[in-house]
Amino acid sequence: MDIVKRLEEYRERERSLGWEGTFSQYFEIVTQRPSVAQLSHERIYNMLVAAGTETTKLGEPRYNFFSDEIFGIERPLQQIVEYFHSAAQRLEVRKRILLLMGPVGGGKSTIVALLKRGLEEYSRTEAGAIYAIRDCPMHEEPLHLIPAEMRADVEKEYGIYIEGELCPKCRWMIEHDFNGEIERVPVKRITLSEKQRTGIGTFAPSDPKSQDISELVGGIDLSTIGDVGSESDPRAYRFDGELNISNRGMMEFVEMLKVDEKFLYVLLTLSQEQNIKTGRFSMIYADEVVVSHTNEHEYQAFVGNKKSEALQDRIILVKVPYNLRVSDEVRIYEKLLGQSALKSVHIAPHTLRIASMFAILSRLEPSKKSGMSLMKKLKLYDGEDMEEFKQKDVKELQDEATREGMEGISPRYVINRLSSALVREGVACINPIDALRALRDGLDQHTSISRDERERYLAFIAQARQEYDDMARNEVQRAFVYSFEESAHTLLNNYLDNVEAYCNKVKVRDPITEEDMDPDEQLMRSIEEQIGIVENAKKTFREEILIRISSLARRGQQFSYTSHDRLKEAIEKKLFADLRDVVKITTSARTPDPEQLKKSNEVISRLISDHGYCPVCANELLKYVGSLLNR
Ligand SMILES: Nc1ncnc2c1ncn2[C@@H]1O[C@H](COP(=O)(O)OP(=O)(O)OP(=O)(O)O)[C@@H](O)[C@H]1O
Ligand SMILES: [Mg+2]
Ligand SMILES: [Zn+2]
Ligand SMILES: [Zn+2]
Repeated sequence: MDIVKRLEEYRERERSLGWEGTFSQYFEIVTQRPSVAQLSHERIYNMLVAAGTETTKLGEPRYNFFSDEIFGIERPLQQIVEYFHSAAQRLEVRKRILLLMGPVGGGKSTIVALLKRGLEEYSRTEAGAIYAIRDCPMHEEPLHLIPAEMRADVEKEYGIYIEGELCPKCRWMIEHDFNGEIERVPVKRITLSEKQRTGIGTFAPSDPKSQDISELVGGIDLSTIGDVGSESDPRAYRFDGELNISNRGMMEFVEMLKVDEKFLYVLLTLSQEQNIKTGRFSMIYADEVVVSHTNEHEYQAFVGNKKSEALQDRIILVKVPYNLRVSDEVRIYEKLLGQSALKSVHIAPHTLRIASMFAILSRLEPSKKSGMSLMKKLKLYDGEDMEEFKQKDVKELQDEATREGMEGISPRYVINRLSSALVREGVACINPIDALRALRDGLDQHTSISRDERERYLAFIAQARQEYDDMARNEVQRAFVYSFEESAHTLLNNYLDNVEAYCNKVKVRDPITEEDMDPDEQLMRSIEEQIGIVENAKKTFREEILIRISSLARRGQQFSYTSHDRLKEAIEKKLFADLRDVVKITTSARTPDPEQLKKSNEVISRLISDHGYCPVCANELLKYVGSLLNR
């Protein structure tokens, strides 16, 4: 890195972020770069698009802006972007409040937080640059200084659209401090910041009795009211409510439908007329996005209430259901675990996948399609094709479901359960069985779960467990037959040496002790029995093998374990039977024979080196598969 260059860039950026000038200079800037005067919805839309888009396998757009943090729920994100798109064109939707509705822990707050953080960063870039009247409490658009009579001409000549009136404070200031000379009014570049209460705000419901409307729209300034004498003097007023400070950017309205009605009326005027009604003043223009969230239950109550009809009309509803794809759910857990204090604990392979299967099963709606079990649906949604169902069926399944993803187990629940399993004393590692156990135990503590639901959930845990059993078996087999060719080759040579000696009625020489020994009848039989060769038939079989070897040899070819189909089958079966034994010895108390012990250790070290296991979960996996095979 070129430190000097980087420092220069840094200084340059800080300089441009700290720009201050007069209104006439600002007007120059606007004529050259009209985007600095864009309205809040347009700014946010441009921010979303600037991060880039991709197209999903199903041909839908995916917005990079969200894609590092939000997984598996493209639909609501598309709807949100569409809302900003139309609002950016100053269509009627701009005058509506965006309301995200969905189940607990489904990512609503995360989406809003991303928008807020994104806007903070975007305002620091050139494309998102934003300027304000320096001393305005609502950091308003300096173009408001241009008198109404002149605006049509400005628009005609420069193509600059101006919307909104000066706030009472600025109006007072122009009159008293600047003698009407607006070109002299100081303007500065601002960066939006929630911490500094510039352009980004949050309003959360609290105790309805004590919550005051001034939190939203500002109120009388008790420290100056004595000096200025009148409540209608703007100097006696603080324009510091959340709606005031969010001007130019956005305000998050947490759990909007939980607040007292009087707050909702303020919102109604804001959305209808782009105005905030404050104290003794005429309406104050505000340009801001209001994003809110709520759960389904409250939303239904709200919709059922006649009194709220006017506001209902002013709301754009976006449903934010749970993610329904296993692999995306795994990413959610990885993200959440990465943020938690549990980073040092080892998570065995498949653990998150199995936990997420349980969660997703709980969110799916049964399909009417014949033969479509929930587990099959889960796999299809996750991109896996089966013999009878393919990806082309996904659309139909989605259309058939009515409120899929609006209920079930939340990612937060799963992570809380995993955490409680992880913090158990001395736990160095957690595997899929631990995870399922933790999830099951959690159901008992969860008082809001009904009996029927509990039964259903237990069945899902059982299904997830079955999936795991298959995975575990495959995993061990994979690790065991890693050097399958080699093991098969060794076993074959061993067999052939013995067969040769048997047929020629000679002894076999032990390669290590160099002793001459009788052919190992037990070894030969253990292989032959795999393909059902009875005692009486063994001689014929062995001779047949020898004949094959010599006929191949005459043609200059070597006999390998694939040269003879039945022998090949016998060797493979024998190897798998050995696997069973190897796996079994790890569960039995008997002292294993050294050969088996060696093999089992090899499997364990392969699981560790190639498949992401630690010594703890590798041993447990073998033990577990052993118990499966013993059944
Ligand atoms: N689809 C998703 N992609 C990424 N993370 C998610 C997703 N759904 C939930 N999460 C994560 O789960 C946690 C809970 O989500 P969040 O707090 O945003 O939910 P919420 O909908 O606001 O819930 P509540 O109704 O309880 O306020 C967050 O850490 C969030 O990042
Ligand atoms: Mg929330
Ligand atoms: Zn102002
Ligand atoms: Zn482990």
